[in-house]
Amino acid sequence: MKNIVAIYPGSFDPVTNGHLDLIHRGSKLFDKLIVAIARNLEKSETLFSMEERSEMLVAMTSELDNVCVDTFEGLLVSYCVKNNANAVLRGIRAISDYEFELQMALMNRKMEPRVETIFMMPAEQYSYLSSRIVREIAKLGGPLNGLVPKMVEDRVREKIAHYHTASQATHLL
Ligand code: PNS
Repeated sequence: MKNIVAIYPGSFDPVTNGHLDLIHRGSKLFDKLIVAIARNLEKSETLFSMEERSEMLVAMTSELDNVCVDTFEGLLVSYCVKNNANAVLRGIRAISDYEFELQMALMNRKMEPRVETIFMMPAEQYSYLSSRIVREIAKLGGPLNGLVPKMVEDRVREKIAHYHTASQATHLL
């Protein structure tokens, strides 16, 4: 039997129920799943710091024995090699995700042919859910129930409350 170590990379700003759905599915399929928070150079401003995002992910995955949370900088494929990972897990919600995901998967495979990208679909009720939409709804005072766990909802509301005016938080959406 092969020992499949998969990396589930992302920004997780913040972790949503869609991400958690995928983590649960991945933990059943792979021997080990590393949820890896990327220090994404393009996203210079995030709502939560790396430490805060990590804290929330650790709390939400603590019952899954074969799942751990980490952070990484630089190329995803280099991080995979460093961790002896043979797969990258990515979620595909709608066809609109496909183009970008295909480009990323093929480019990663060109750079590192030993690492395969595995796409999984989250449960249908999460097919329109994203961290960006969670941040926007929270900023505008809308309901977050069913979108993120209660602990994450509290942290998001707390964070948004720190911004005195709506315009101050606009750059984070
Ligand atoms: O949650 P996101 O923002 O969709 O995650 C995107 C992420 C972090 C997976 C992607 O930007 C990434 O892999 N970044 C690491 C840098 C890298 O390897 N870039 C080349 C991709 S072909």
